[in-house]
Amino acid sequence: MFGLFSKRAHRVVINGRPALTLTRNETILNGALRGGLQIPHSCKVGGCGSCKCRLLEGRVREFTDKSYLLSKEDIAANMILACQSAPRSDVAVEFPGWSGDIRAIDGRITAVDPLTRDIAEIRIRLEQPLHYRAGQSARLKASGTDIPERSYSFAHRCDAAGTRDVAFIVRAVEQGRMSNWLLDARAPGRRIRLTGPQGDFHLRDASRPVMPLPAAAAWRRSTPCSRPRSRTTRRSSTNR
Ligand code: FES
Repeated sequence: MFGLFSKRAHRVVINGRPALTLTRNETILNGALRGGLQIPHSCKVGGCGSCKCRLLEGRVREFTDKSYLLSKEDIAANMILACQSAPRSDVAVEFPGWSGDIRAIDGRITAVDPLTRDIAEIRIRLEQPLHYRAGQSARLKASGTDIPERSYSFAHRCDAAGTRDVAFIVRAVEQGRMSNWLLDARAPGRRIRLTGPQGDFHLRDASRPVMPLPAAAAWRRSTPCSRPRSRTTRRSSTNR
């Protein structure tokens, strides 16, 4: 039992950033969040795989069996779960594709393209390039107003080198100050501040085929059940 815990705190380098010192037996995820690094994560209990990262140097103690969550290829590539790993030496890890750069960038609305009666695509040109991943979002603030900022998902994929031109799909919300400000006919030319990218529920690099969830749901609906429905089920299905 005494050998279970390491005797001292260790340092962790994440994606080449300045080292963080973790407290004794602190997980890489907890240490990173405490140090202000928003590394990818979600469940924090070893159940989702969001915090998967590559151990580049050093040794870690893993609190759960990762083989039910990570593929053989992941394990062979030295992938670990940051929420379930505490350093046993100074370590370096890498989160593939994570930049950790949430920034505030000013820009101007360049176009409002109506898509339906109450939905439009808002295009913005930023003063500096931004890099984001499919599935991420940004907070938008109407400059020079007291309108509270709102979050919107990026409408298009980003170039590998980043982009200064971003777009969002906005629906007019009744009494919604931000959506009405964005969809106003006078919106083009207005100054706006973007803070992002936000969110870690985004498309990740993967060696295996990706099945989007709607497609998975459609596939499930089109696949006959392997077990015939019981009489009980048939009876209950008439009870609408
Ligand atoms: S945050 Fe879900 S597995 Fe680590």
